[in-house]
Amino acid sequence: MLAKEGFKLGLAEFDPEIAQSIKNETDRENNTLEMIASENFVSREVQEAQGSVMTNKYAEGYPGKRYYGGCEFVDIAENLAIERAKKIFAAEHVNVQPHSGSQANMAVFHAVLNPGDTILGMDLSHGGHLTHGCPVNFSGYTYNVVSYGVNKDTELIDYNEVKKLAKENKPKLIIVGASAYPRIIDPIKFREIADDVGAKIMTDIAHPAGLVATGLYPSPIPYSEFVTSTTHKTLRGPRGGMILCREEFAKEINKKIFPGIQGGPLMHVIAAKAVAFKEALSNEFLSYQKQVIVNARHLAKFLIENGLKIVSGGTDTHLMLLDLRPQDITGKDAESALEKAGITVNKNTIPFETRSPFVTSGIRIGTPALTTRGMKEKEMEIIGGFIIKTLEKISDNAFHSETRKCVRELCDQFPLHSELTKI
Ligand SMILES: Cc1ncc(COP(=O)(O)O)c(C=O)c1O
Repeated sequence: MLAKEGFKLGLAEFDPEIAQSIKNETDRENNTLEMIASENFVSREVQEAQGSVMTNKYAEGYPGKRYYGGCEFVDIAENLAIERAKKIFAAEHVNVQPHSGSQANMAVFHAVLNPGDTILGMDLSHGGHLTHGCPVNFSGYTYNVVSYGVNKDTELIDYNEVKKLAKENKPKLIIVGASAYPRIIDPIKFREIADDVGAKIMTDIAHPAGLVATGLYPSPIPYSEFVTSTTHKTLRGPRGGMILCREEFAKEINKKIFPGIQGGPLMHVIAAKAVAFKEALSNEFLSYQKQVIVNARHLAKFLIENGLKIVSGGTDTHLMLLDLRPQDITGKDAESALEKAGITVNKNTIPFETRSPFVTSGIRIGTPALTTRGMKEKEMEIIGGFIIKTLEKISDNAFHSETRKCVRELCDQFPLHSELTKI
C-alpha cells in the first residue's frame, strides 16, 4: 500500500525531506569544485541503469547458476559487465559482484590467507589504504601486518626497502597500490620481489583504474595473481568494486565473494557497471583520461611555481598531495577554509606524518571530477589561484565568501546535472 502511494505521488511529494536532501546535493555538486581524488560524476546513462528496476531482483549465485528464478535479464547485464571488463583490462577472469573496493580486497584475502598469516602492504600514512593492513581495519587485526613506505628524501616507494622487508618477513601476500600515492608504481619490480620470497601479489588499482583501462598507467594484470578495484573513481562508474584474476583462481574468488562474504549481488549496480565499462571502451574515454593527467600535472606545476610543496615534487596520475608544513597550516584547517570557498578536498596524512589523522599536515587533490565537467588547463590555473589565496588568507571568512562567488561563476560555465537542478 505504502509503495503504491509512493509510486503515485513521486518522491518530492511522498518524501519531501529526502527529495530536498537530493536536490541540495545536486546543487552542491553543481555549484562547487569537486576535487576529492576518489570522486567523479557518472553519466546520465550510468545513473539511469543504477536507478532501474534491477534493484528489485535477488540473484544469489552467478549467471546461469542462480539460487533464484527469474534471473534471465539480470544474467544478461552481469555477463555484459564481465565481458566488457575482461576486454578493457585483458583479464582472464572478472568478478563484478563486490559491493565495494573493501569487499573486493577482503575476498582476495580470504582466498589466499589464513588468520595470522603475514601480509606486506603500504603504510596508510605513506599513501596506502585502510584495507592494506591498517590496525583498525579487518586487514590489520586479522593478519600479521608488515608495512612499507616511501623514501624520506625522494618521497617515492623505496623498492629496496620493500625487498628487504619481504626477505625478512616472508609475506604470503604482497599488496601493491595506494589511495594517496601520486606516482606510477612499477609492477615488474614488485613481481621480482614477490617471486624472490614466494609471495602472491594483489594489486589494488582502485585509484588509477581509468588510467590503466586506457593504457596511460602500466597494467599490473600480467604481474599480479589478483587485481582489485573500485569502479567509481577514475573509472567513472557506479560506487562498487571488482576483482580481476587468472583463470586458475576464478572458482576460489567467486566462492569467497558469494557465499563467502556477500549475499545477493546489487544487480542495478552491476548493470550500471556494465554501462560504465562500455563508456570506458570508447575513444572519448581515452581523451578524458589523458586530460585528467594533463590537468593534474598542470595544476601541480602551477601550485609549485607559486610556492606550495607537493609530495614527491609532482604527479604522474590524477592526484597530488600538498605538504602544508612550510605554511604551518594543518590539513584540517586547509580542508575547512577551502570548503568555505566552495572547493572540496580532503585532509590527508603525508609521509612521516607527525599529526593525527583527524588533523594531518596535508591535503589530497584530484582532477577526475573537474575534468568530467570539461575543465582544462586554463581552469586549473584559475582554481590553483583560488587555492593559493585561500591558504594565504586561511582565517579570513569574508575572503572565502568572495572566492565562493568566483567559484560559482566558474561552475556555471561548466554545468552539471542541469536538468536535475530544475526539478
Ligand atoms: C586503494 C583503495 N582500495 C580500496 C578502497 C575501498 O573502496 P570502498 O570505499 O569502495 O570500500 C579505496 C577507497 O578509497 C582505495 O583508495
